[in-house]
Order: sequence, then structure tokens, then C-alpha cells
Amino acid sequence: MKNKMQEQRESLPIFPFKQDLIAAIREYQILVVVGDTGSGKTTQLPQYILEGIPNAIVAVTQPRRIAAISAAYRVAEETGTKIGDLVGYSIRFEKVASKNTKLQFLTDGTLLRTCTTDPLISQFNCIMLDESHERSLDTDVLFGLLKRACKQRPELKVIIMSATLDIEKFQDFFDAPVFSVPGRMFEVDVLWQKTIKFQTLKTTFVQRCVETVMHIHKTEEPGDVLVFLTGQQEIERCAKNILDLHKELNYNLVRHRDSVKDMVVYPIYSSLETLQQKAIFEKTPKGVRKIVLATNIAQTSVTVPGIRYVVDCGFVKQKMYDHKTHMDALLVVPISQAAATQRAGRAGRTENGKVYRLYCKEAFQEMSPTTVPEIQRSSLLGTILYLLKIGIKDVLNFDFIDAPDPELVQTGLKQLFYLGAVDKENRLTHLGKIMSDFPVSPFLSRCLISSSQDFQCSDEMCTIVALLSVEDFYIQPRSEKDQALAEEKRQEFYDSSGDHVTFLNIYNAWRDSGYSQDWCRDNFFHYRALNVAKNIRSQLLSAMKQHKLEIYSLTHKQKIPPSCRQPILKSLCSGFYMNTVKKQKGKTVFYPYIASLEGQSTLLFLSPQSSLTKIDQDRLDWVIFNDVQFVTRPNMRITSRIDFEMVKVLFGRVDIKHHKMEEEFQTIREVIDPMHNEEHGLRNEVHSNQVERPVD
Ligand code: CDP
Ligand code: MG
Repeated sequence: MKNKMQEQRESLPIFPFKQDLIAAIREYQILVVVGDTGSGKTTQLPQYILEGIPNAIVAVTQPRRIAAISAAYRVAEETGTKIGDLVGYSIRFEKVASKNTKLQFLTDGTLLRTCTTDPLISQFNCIMLDESHERSLDTDVLFGLLKRACKQRPELKVIIMSATLDIEKFQDFFDAPVFSVPGRMFEVDVLWQKTIKFQTLKTTFVQRCVETVMHIHKTEEPGDVLVFLTGQQEIERCAKNILDLHKELNYNLVRHRDSVKDMVVYPIYSSLETLQQKAIFEKTPKGVRKIVLATNIAQTSVTVPGIRYVVDCGFVKQKMYDHKTHMDALLVVPISQAAATQRAGRAGRTENGKVYRLYCKEAFQEMSPTTVPEIQRSSLLGTILYLLKIGIKDVLNFDFIDAPDPELVQTGLKQLFYLGAVDKENRLTHLGKIMSDFPVSPFLSRCLISSSQDFQCSDEMCTIVALLSVEDFYIQPRSEKDQALAEEKRQEFYDSSGDHVTFLNIYNAWRDSGYSQDWCRDNFFHYRALNVAKNIRSQLLSAMKQHKLEIYSLTHKQKIPPSCRQPILKSLCSGFYMNTVKKQKGKTVFYPYIASLEGQSTLLFLSPQSSLTKIDQDRLDWVIFNDVQFVTRPNMRITSRIDFEMVKVLFGRVDIKHHKMEEEFQTIREVIDPMHNEEHGLRNEVHSNQVERPVD
């Protein structure tokens, strides 16, 4: 007798094509497979290959960690094996696989890192690039590398999987046939907003989502709801408001009072915990409506069954390279038409459905037809460093499916030069080689190296870098009472230099609690996120040791004493000195230092979450930040106060153009001009024995 899971597998749209797919894979070296989301590409095709291709060792890439993990768990379950045995996964900082593993789900970044020591990816003989339509930066680089590897390894099989029919590009680039799996789509009614400007919608979409969900819950027939939102904060806010309204709801007045009596709300954002709540994938009990609040991840990567109603807010949070700050910023931007179609399609998987679009038809027409590939809208620092590392010297002429803007490549090279990773001829330096070996961004690896070589605080820096590599670990409590309590509890960890040292205090206090889960709950921190940081920290420590970078510790005290701040902040400056800003006196705006000197400038603000918002704003002068998040205005996230002396000496490498500065840059000019007149060029080095001015 077939079990339930076997039945489910055989009911998927891909199942009837099993033998044809195996035959096509046997015949062609590269195959493009297209099929609607939910047809079974990710979970089934790798299993067909294990069955049909002898001695297959399969790698399947995913653009997101959460998708790699959840696919691995699902396939392990379907094959009746333990995770890490036949089926495993490997993501940055975490590998669950063994000698027996024949199928591994990896993020595309992880597969790329494998290529640095094994450019032909010889440990696998079948590589499947999943979610290719997403065109992540790493997938795009893999396209080029795999094309090369195929020429040299005739036995290698490559499968490009995509959810959209827009595949001519792949077909041309790889010169490969396309196998398309017809989807099973039911009709989806599209409901438009009457007239609304994107600008208005942008500031109100969370509330509009709440109202739409309540409308659906009160008036529509049974069926689950999937809401597309932009990120963790928006999702949590939406969840809170929906649950509040639901509490007040009088079911006696609801039209479908007999059929729908209750609701459950599940958020999905890039956090494993929420996806491991299996309830998301299970059938909702009768009389209960499931409301799933998701980021873009539910557009194609994760399929939630039973969805009949989709609410599409029309926006996505996207990485965008900002020419003015020379930084990647997270921006909330309108989605593309292709994305809107994908989102709507999620409503018609099991029966006829409806999509509530929170924008109007005219706005849809104004959307760009497809999403711009990441490679054309992000900083290329990491990618360039990577390509140089694997011996591709002429980055501009690498075989990209869509070449990046040459100007972006130039900027990337320039920034790598500032960091000391490449020389004037764009050749990788010794420092650059070490930097590229670290599984973190070049900015962060530069801080780590400096913290060991120049400032003897590498133990502390490993903690900070680990914490900067995880998602937000602060819990934002829902009730105002808890918010006040959280604020009070966290006061204890606060350091007046800003967020970086505060992070360190938090981690140390958690360490001294014995890495306790209760401690996290009591102090309103995400236990899972801190645990990930702990894991990353130990990997960073071993990477340091591997490169013979000494681990020094400034203090064993739980709370960092003021005397220890300087080395920590200086190490941070050596990686992030491009992110130095100066506050305008009497105002709340900051100017990015280098961008201003190069003639472009944009105003930046402190993020409301920054601990620097708590101090007297007149005391702020120079600040460094980790990144910029743009919602209604560009906010600097994770900030610390620095002393200009800390970075001044680093600016020797910066090629400052003479230009007419506006009046408000007077203060900057006063500092920069004396520097410029110095006879001897400043070197990209900082000496720890310099006389220092304390931050406070
Ligand atoms: O990759 P594709 O979108 O084509 O489909 P898939 O991820 O292989 O998922 C196929 C089906 O498996 C989905 O429609 C879900 O019903 C089911 N599935 C699940 O129940 N739990 C998971 N963790 C993943 C998939
Ligand atoms: Mg898939």
C-alpha cells in the first residue's frame, strides 16, 4: 500500500514526466527545466536523478539559506532518511552532510566558495541551479563558471531550473534544450484597487494589507490567505494588527460564521524557525483560516499549500546599489510585472482563487516587465574579489549572461584598492587573498585581519563580525508594556560608543549565562539568531587560525570597559572607512565622507533602532555605520561614534578629486585640506600606538 507521502509525490505535475526527464538528462549535458512553482522541481527532480542516473552525486543550489534547509528536510523525509545521511545541506557556516550524502542542497554562495579550491566542482557530477529566474548575483557567476566546467568535464550534468517561461536567455547562453513541465493552474480573479499612487501606497501598505485580510476573512469563502509583504518588521506589524482586530471580531456578525470561525497567523521571513513550524505546510483544520504573511520567499522558493487568496502589496525590499553612497542599500521598490504574475499565481494552485492587488491597473502598467538582475544593481566588491581569486583577471570580459555595468566594476575595483585587496594594476594583493578566504564580505574580513595584525582585539572582532552576519537578533515585542520592559533590560548592555560595542556586551552577557535560552527570552533577544552567531564566531576563529592570524583578547570582563573601545572601533574603521559620516551641526543629517569628497553626496539619517539615538545629538560628530536601509529615507543601521583621527590616516588611498564644495562641507574641508598638503603620502596603515582621543 502506498503511503500518503508517496501519493502526494505522484500527484505532482512533474510526476508523469519522470521517465522523459531522466532520458533528457541522460542525453544532454545541459538542460533547462521550466515549471510552475509547486510542480515538484526542487523536491522531485533531484530524486529522479538519484534513481535514474547511476553514481550521481547531486548538488542543488538555492538563492536562500532557508530554502536550502527546508528542501533538504523535505527530501530527507520523502526518502525516509535522516537529514545529513543520503540528503544533506550546506550553507554558509553550516554543513549537515556525511560520506553517504548523495544529494546536497547548497546556497549558490556556498557552491561558489567550493569553486575557489575546486574550480571544476569535481566533487559533484550533477549540478542543478534552482530558482534561476531569480538571477541572484551568485547564480549569475555560477552560470559562467558552469559553462566553462562543462567544456572541460564531458561527464558533468548541469540542469538549470526556472519557474518562469522567460527562458530564451538561458537557452541562448547555454545552447541547451528546454524541458517544460506544464503546470496545473486554476483560474485566478484579479481584484484591483481603484486609483492609488505608489507613493501613497508605500507609506500605507501595511495597514491596507491588514484591512484586506480582515475583509477576506469576514466575507470570503473558506480558503487560506497569503500576504506578500516586504520584510520582518512589516510582517510583525501586520501580524500584530490582524490579531488585535481578530480579538475584537464578533463572529456572529460575520457572513461566513458557519464555515470560518477562527484564524491562525504565520509569518515567513528568512528565519528557519518559522519554516520548521510544520503547521505552515499542513492542512488547516476546518473552520480555521490560515493567514500566511511572507516576504518574496513565498513567491517561488517556498510553496504553502491550500492558498486561495493572495494579497499583493506591490512592493519588495530589494538590494540596490546607491551611486551616491557607494553602498548597497535595501530599498522598498515596486515589484515587476513578472513578480506580480508569480504572486497572483500562488492563489490558483489547488482551486480557483483570487488575488487582491493593492495597486491599480495603471500602476501595474508602469511596473517594469521583469526584475533587473542583481548583478546590475549591486556592489560588485565580493564578486570581483572572488573572480580575481579564482584567476579570472579580466573581470569585465567574464562570460556573464548579462554583463554588469562597467562603471560598477570600476567602482568595485576602486573600493577593493581602498581596502588594500588589489594593487593599482588591479592585481590581488596578499591581503586580498586572505580576505577572499573569509566567508564574509570584504569589509568584514578587512576588519578581522586588522583586529589581529594591528589592534590585538581579534577575539572581540570575531564576535562583532559574527553578530553583524546574522539577521536582527533583537526581538521587537508586540505590546507596549513589553517594549518598555525590553528597553529597560537592554539598558544594561548599552555602550555609549554605539551599537558595535553594545553588541559585544550583549554577546558576552549571553556567554556568561551559559548561552542560556531563558536569558535570551528574559532579555528579548532571538535565541536562534544568537546561536547562529555563536557558530559563525567559532568558524571565524578557525579561519583566523588557518591564516596564522593571532587571536588576541582585550578583556575577559563581561562589559567592555571604556579603555578597550579604541582598538575595537579602529579595527572596524579599517574595513568600514568608506562608511564614515559626519553630522551636520545642529541638524540630524549626516554626510558620507568619501562620497562627499568625490563630489556626490546624499544625506543619511540614524536608524531609529540605533543606540546613538539615545544620546545627546549635539555630542555626535563622526560616525561609522554598517549599512543603509531605505524605507522612507536612507537610514544608517548599526552605528558607532568614532574619532576622525581613527580614519584620517586611512584616507591616504582615497583619490580625492578637487571640486567645488558646497558651503555645508566647510567643516569637512577644514579637515581634509591639511591632509592634502602633507608632503608624504599617507599609507593605508594605522598604528596602534598613536596618541588617541577618547570617544567619550
Ligand atoms: O520546486 P517547485 O516549486 O516546482 O516545487 P517543490 O518545491 O518541489 O514542491 C512541490 C510540492 O511539495 C509543493 O507544492 C508542496 O505541496 C510540497 N512540499 C511540502 O509539502 N513541504 C515542503 N517543505 C516542500 C514541498
Ligand atoms: Mg522550487
